[in-house]
Amino acid sequence: MSSEILVIGATGNTGKRIVKRLEALGLAVRPAFRESDIPFDWQQPATWPAVLRDIQTAYVTYSPDLAVPSAHGVIAAFVKAAEVAGLRRLVLLSQRNQVNAQACEQLLKDSSLAWTILQPSWFAQNFSEGGFRDSVLAGEVTVPTSGAAEPFVDLEDVADVAVAALTEDGHTGRVYELTGSDLLGWDEAVAHIAQVTGRNLSFRACSTQDFQQILRSVGFPEADAAFGATLVAQILDGRNARLGDGVQRALGREPKSFAQFCREAQAQGCWAAEPVNA
Ligand SMILES: NC(=O)c1ccc[n+]([C@@H]2O[C@H](COP(=O)([O-])OP(=O)(O)OC[C@H]3O[C@@H](n4cnc5c(N)ncnc54)[C@H](OP(=O)(O)O)[C@@H]3O)[C@@H](O)[C@H]2O)c1
Repeated sequence: MSSEILVIGATGNTGKRIVKRLEALGLAVRPAFRESDIPFDWQQPATWPAVLRDIQTAYVTYSPDLAVPSAHGVIAAFVKAAEVAGLRRLVLLSQRNQVNAQACEQLLKDSSLAWTILQPSWFAQNFSEGGFRDSVLAGEVTVPTSGAAEPFVDLEDVADVAVAALTEDGHTGRVYELTGSDLLGWDEAVAHIAQVTGRNLSFRACSTQDFQQILRSVGFPEADAAFGATLVAQILDGRNARLGDGVQRALGREPKSFAQFCREAQAQGCWAAEPVNA
């Protein structure tokens, strides 16, 4: 067995931060994505054994999303392949309160693997690196929300917890609900960004149908726009309007606040017209 830690989704939001931390600890990493040295594709199970060969510990983020109904069959097959390959420890990036994701989590709980499940809230960096950065730069953030508050989590906290679960004892069999330190309305979050950046920025709540149209307009195929809009509306319907304690339980410290995220993103130039690569 190799001492390499497998990171699936190694170029993504969480994966790239986890790889950076593991390498800084002097640990060997096997990054996996569709064009990695050993290519990995969720849609091509024939690619899985080579990536899993001799690996004991893995971080797994599923793309496009564990909420997609077809994820269950793929994760079921992947967990079997991992068991056959001799994987021992698996840290899964999931999400909060989503029925299809919960069914995928159950596959892990029913397996022979030592598992840890991460359930993050909405990533704060969606505003600075993800799909909502363009909205910030355009001056209006629009989402389908009932007005419920969201405890935006900083991706640096998610990565810290993932690395702890991958490298330390004491995290097996734990489900960590990862949120930031404060529950904020979307209008309040957007006001924080406006204040820190000095931008003229507003927030608008919209219907699910309007959000579907926005997704279509930025290039989402029809079916993905419909699914994505419904999923976002569900996430923001009030079911997740509470703080979690996963960062505290995993790391023994408080999570970062949204205000701290805003200050750091601004200092890194994330909202400059030409962003500095975070
Ligand atoms: N955004 C949020 O606020 C939020 C909140 C909670 C949970 N989540 C969960 O986060 C997960 C996504 O994680 P992330 O944000 O870290 O990743 P991400 O930024 O979406 O990146 C996806 C990663 O997976 C790879 N990938 C894409 N398609 C693939 C395929 N068919 N086979 C193999 N690899 C593939 C990508 O690389 P290549 O394209 O180069 O292959 C990339 O490394 C989702 O399941 C979502 O539910 C997100």
